[in-house]
Amino acid sequence: MQQHNVLILDFGSQYTQLIARRVRELNIYCEIHPYNKIPNNLNDFKAVILSGSPSSVRSDQAPHPDLSEIRGMKPLLAVCYGAQYLAHFSGGLVAPSNTREYGRANLSFVKENESFFTNISEGSQVWMSHSDTIKDLPTNGVLLASTHDVKNAAYKIEGETTYAIQFHPEVYHSTDGKQLLENFLVNIAGVSQTWTPDSFVDETVKGLQDKIGEDKVVLGLSGGVDSTVAAVLLHKAIGKNLHCIFVNNGLLRKDEYTSVLKQYEGMGLNVKGVDASERFLNDLAGLSDPEAKRKSIGKVFIEVFDDEANQIENAKWLAQGTIYPDVIESVSVNGGPSATIKSHHNVGGLPDFMKLKIVEPLRMIFKDEVRRVGASMGIDKELLGRHPFPGPGLAIRILGDITSEKVRILQEVDAIFINGLREDGLYDKVWQAGAILLPVNSVGVMGDERTYEKVVALRAVESTDGMTADWVNLPYEFLQKTSNKIINNVKGVNRVVYDISSKPPATIEWE
Ligand code: XMP
Repeated sequence: MQQHNVLILDFGSQYTQLIARRVRELNIYCEIHPYNKIPNNLNDFKAVILSGSPSSVRSDQAPHPDLSEIRGMKPLLAVCYGAQYLAHFSGGLVAPSNTREYGRANLSFVKENESFFTNISEGSQVWMSHSDTIKDLPTNGVLLASTHDVKNAAYKIEGETTYAIQFHPEVYHSTDGKQLLENFLVNIAGVSQTWTPDSFVDETVKGLQDKIGEDKVVLGLSGGVDSTVAAVLLHKAIGKNLHCIFVNNGLLRKDEYTSVLKQYEGMGLNVKGVDASERFLNDLAGLSDPEAKRKSIGKVFIEVFDDEANQIENAKWLAQGTIYPDVIESVSVNGGPSATIKSHHNVGGLPDFMKLKIVEPLRMIFKDEVRRVGASMGIDKELLGRHPFPGPGLAIRILGDITSEKVRILQEVDAIFINGLREDGLYDKVWQAGAILLPVNSVGVMGDERTYEKVVALRAVESTDGMTADWVNLPYEFLQKTSNKIINNVKGVNRVVYDISSKPPATIEWE
């Protein structure tokens, strides 16, 4: 357990994850817990942050947790709804605001030389997003700052290390938001900034050793960043007792199976490659519906994985590359529907009959932290920087039914596109890229011959988490070169188009 934890109590704000991100960027470990499940080990937390919320404190249905073991007992920072909550139940007054309080505002300090605002200048831009406002401060409240429209924009409680702000320090539009969090956590609460990838690796390896002992662990490698980093961490902890399985479902990128397998072996991992391409393609034969394809691949994956895991005697654990955003989503205040939307993304979820205990070494860290942890363990930069690739692979980029010939065509096209991005230094500027084989033929002309062949679409998007995305403005010269190369080299394709749709309303994948 980390020495200096920060507890973030989530009241359901869309920004709660961002608070955790900003705190982690300060090299401080923090955990998000829903307001209605305050953890028992409060002693492990050195400071507490209350998040915002879409609710109004004046509503009976709003979060109204008992904070008696927190408030006044440890340093507390209340953000937006949190600030209103403190006021509403402690002698202040919260009411609907008359003016729209959404967007940029500028701080004007009421109290000089306040350590809460160290290194923050008068006029600093902050981000407001609320419909209620604090009309009267709570008992013993001391006003610290106002904005043009919000008188009580920041206050503290006399005699406590309790601070409250109406704005959101976690969003980038609050220019000094991170500084403010640092002022509170480091200068006021005395939390130390010791959370680094190296410290994470050391503590996790120790924790894994204690938990697993001499047991054997099975892990499914996908070629992606998360499963790879999880495997390397476990390998560090338990060595050869980690048994990795890398399945070729026949729907990977061109040559990916052999090259990635070689890379894994080079990293010293105890990995078994299983080429089950035929089994997957046979099961997919004749299926056109995207969800039916996903189900088929998920089912065969579990069968293949189970066969292999059964051959590892005394395997007691199944390791997974689950990361923090998935965990937060499933335990969040709003957990439920959004968690289900994502579940289909994780091919290889645990079937009940496998009876293995679960170990998830990355379950408390974010994606970019996974990369940092991977880098600190010496994992190849290229592997860590790989674009995300869907579990069902090319199956959802071949629209309609799947044949081995279509897979071959798409692998060729995809390889030309991706290699081209790398050669022209564009790969790292793109969040995800790939090619899609369309279920239409178009007329073309080659030499004197009329052709009637396949159309492929290229897709390249920028995004931070895949939830929203925009198409990338790739240079025309690059698109021209790539299109020529594809049509001249890939037999069966005579037309290339570029997808210029953003998400929403489109999605990243076509299926
Ligand atoms: P969409 O198409 O929903 O994609 O905009 C968002 C992100 O999710 C990936 N994706 C999947 N990943 N299994 C996966 O493992 C799937 O079935 C799946 N469908 C979409 C997609 O590649 C993108 O990164």
